[in-house]
Amino acid sequence: MEGGEGRDPVRRKGIILAGGSGTRLHPATRGISKQLLPIYDKPMIYYPLCVLMQAGVHEILVISTPRDTPRFEELLRDGSEWGLNIQYAVQPSPGGVAQAYLVGEEFLSGSPSMLALGDNVFFGQGFPEVLQASCALEYGATIFAHCVDDPERYGIVEFDDVGKVIGIEEKPNQPRSHYAVTGLYFYDGRATELVRSLKPGPRGELEITDLNCLYLKDGSLEAEILDHSFTWLDVGTHDSLLLASSFVEDFQKKRGVKIACPEEVAWRMGLIDDAQLERLTQPLLSNGYGHYLRDLLTKG
Ligand code: G1P
Repeated sequence: MEGGEGRDPVRRKGIILAGGSGTRLHPATRGISKQLLPIYDKPMIYYPLCVLMQAGVHEILVISTPRDTPRFEELLRDGSEWGLNIQYAVQPSPGGVAQAYLVGEEFLSGSPSMLALGDNVFFGQGFPEVLQASCALEYGATIFAHCVDDPERYGIVEFDDVGKVIGIEEKPNQPRSHYAVTGLYFYDGRATELVRSLKPGPRGELEITDLNCLYLKDGSLEAEILDHSFTWLDVGTHDSLLLASSFVEDFQKKRGVKIACPEEVAWRMGLIDDAQLERLTQPLLSNGYGHYLRDLLTKG
């Protein structure tokens, strides 16, 4: 189901930001990071992780809180069992999405990057191809917009009549459009240097919208619209967590394929071979997740 043949020609590195205090999900997240909570049958972070994998990005930094970083490490380890190289860094306190570029400076060492927010779920036919095309761009930034009913909750992008981006605002009181900037961003090697010039915004954080505005000013920002055939869920509330789980359960049961199964994506992308998939399957055979992996091997 998932996968595709993509390899990133520019060796882009990936960051998953899985920090934050998760207060909007308290008490569910008092003892555990939001991005470790399950969305139906797998931890939330598997969803952005698979998006990075499908883009062809295999060197990935997971950034989380001092408390939760060891738990992500326990879950994902060094990524080698899925053909990945996963490293970890701590964001000492919630300082904004753009701060990922300061925390991740050493890891990135000037490489182009792909940033995914750990609580964003994407699903759509043809998405790997869209991602791989953005990955191949060496210069500038690409963001993805999706139409929403509650634009005051997001970064909002405004387009002119010919679809050119003319402005981006973070959580505007009077939104100029219904196109939300989703939590998935591609930047060229200048991102860290540009973040250094940012000042904290009204909520006291380094805003990713301000970084996007610098690329816009520079004339090097692309915005792709993800139409209604794509599903985008920003899982930040009790209701959206349940909605995401219901969506995944419903889709998987109806179609008989999984969304965001890293073992499958790794296998389909040729990052692991049949023998490794078999090894990963063995300890999971007591449940439907393991049976699904076993069926991949036997039925393809
Ligand atoms: C962040 C960004 C916002 C974007 C959203 C997507 O918001 O600042 O521009 O639309 O992610 O999930 P936050 O989750 O920090 O409120």
